[in-house]
Amino acid sequence: MAHRCWPDPEARFKRFGKDSGGNFFLEAFQAAPQVRLRSTEDRCRSQLADLTVLNERLAGRQTTWQIRTRLEYLKTRRRNWESIYEYVTKADASATLAMIEEANRKVEAALSEESRERTSVVALKTQLVELQQEVNAAHQRLHLTQARVDFNMQRINELKEEATQLERMRSMLSTAESTLDMEPGLRNFWYPTAFSSKVDANMLVPFDLFGEPWVLFRNETGVVSCVKDECAHRACPLSLGKVVDGKVQCPYHGWEYTGAGECVTMPSTVQCLGIRVSSLPCTEQDGFVWVWPGSQPPTELPALAQPPKGFTMHAEIEVEVPVEHGLLLENLLDLAHAPFTHTSTFAKGWPIPDFVKFKAARLLGGNWDPYPIDMSFEPPCCVVSLIGLSQPGKIKRGLRAGECENHLHQLHVCLPSKKGHTRLLYRMSMDFMDWTRSVPGIQRFWRYIAGQVLGEDLVLVAGQQDRMERGSDTWANPVSYDKLAVRYRRWRNSVDGDSNEQQAAVAALTRMSAGELFSMSEDVADLEEGLACDSNGCSV
Ligand code: FES
Ligand SMILES: [Fe+2]
Repeated sequence: MAHRCWPDPEARFKRFGKDSGGNFFLEAFQAAPQVRLRSTEDRCRSQLADLTVLNERLAGRQTTWQIRTRLEYLKTRRRNWESIYEYVTKADASATLAMIEEANRKVEAALSEESRERTSVVALKTQLVELQQEVNAAHQRLHLTQARVDFNMQRINELKEEATQLERMRSMLSTAESTLDMEPGLRNFWYPTAFSSKVDANMLVPFDLFGEPWVLFRNETGVVSCVKDECAHRACPLSLGKVVDGKVQCPYHGWEYTGAGECVTMPSTVQCLGIRVSSLPCTEQDGFVWVWPGSQPPTELPALAQPPKGFTMHAEIEVEVPVEHGLLLENLLDLAHAPFTHTSTFAKGWPIPDFVKFKAARLLGGNWDPYPIDMSFEPPCCVVSLIGLSQPGKIKRGLRAGECENHLHQLHVCLPSKKGHTRLLYRMSMDFMDWTRSVPGIQRFWRYIAGQVLGEDLVLVAGQQDRMERGSDTWANPVSYDKLAVRYRRWRNSVDGDSNEQQAAVAALTRMSAGELFSMSEDVADLEEGLACDSNGCSV
């Protein structure tokens, strides 16, 4: 083949696209014969097919072409493998039986009166020995057929099992339903709403949760409270006011409210009694301010997954994101998108792996393969990940996070702030490069990096949200690397209700001990038993 030169880069790009860079060897490679590697299963099936063709031809019932056509039809569907099996073994068995019958018939004919009269004793003896050999060969063939029947039966059972699992997996995945609505049941959880370090004395920290405006502030003793960010007088946002003597003062007419929401000061008028704004149960733990927005009594505060010993916190970032929190969580729980989406940031230059798998060690957590990343979803809205780095900034594929020298620990909190909006709290810790914490402007730098990465995702997730608003289904065709995100969605579907029983079942699930969770196989059947939720709740 004549090699063509493409000295002009633009012409080369037009000809070969962005990947080849105009390497003129490409055409030669494309023209080379392709070698197809067959798996063991392929070989088994092909052998089975060849056997069928042989049997049919021996029986002389159909032409090779007709047999092949029928086989191709049968091979199109897995469940038809049983028919193929029966087809092959029956044909084989009947061919063998025909051989035995034929041999017996010959023996009988040889031993008949008429034959004995016509044939000499020596010739008859020779004939009988030959016939005996024929019968023996037929019997041997029968044994072979029996062995083949057993082998094929085993293989068919394996295929059937595989097909059943695939069907169950498919039906299970198709039960995940995306929604932009915030299910009432989601309210009955503790939510980390702000970093404690960002709620200073005399500071008002507003945020939205489930479409309602709230504001955090500390009293004189440092106790943090959460009240509705809306004055009881004329609905002015209280967060525009200030903290006075441990109370929040409205900037409009100066009404003041305690942390419990009670209005205790009304300047320039007679104090009205019993005026108040709503407040939420509020507490601090693990460096977060937590609130309980539910209608049911608060449960025990959950322990948020902390970085292992030896880690130092490097950044705490809060950002309002214009996408629904579930979509953002699903994005964070998916690593397969990284080499396609994050091509300008952390996944720059990452090759596309042959496969990406999430290996579930428990119901909502496990590790990614081939990436050295452990990840879990922590209900109701957190993603914890531990990333192993072979050297600062470099990821090495094929390892587990624990096998790496350096680690990055990330916590993403995706608060359902209002419809189509998320309040994202991001905390990053590392077990190396401690010295960077004292570098001037480092916080700005981390914020910039986080913004870049988030920006790459947001344009896509916002696009998904747009399609959902137009009625599209974001879970129409999930695949195996969507496992963790699908499990999140199933968990979320399971809290779509406000009944006590349902909440108890979901709470029981989220409280499962590590032992119980680890004993759960990632096998689909076990998963379904582990999290089978319907309108009556979840069976755990
Ligand atoms: S609106 Fe708040 S005091 Fe009047
Ligand atoms: Fe991403």
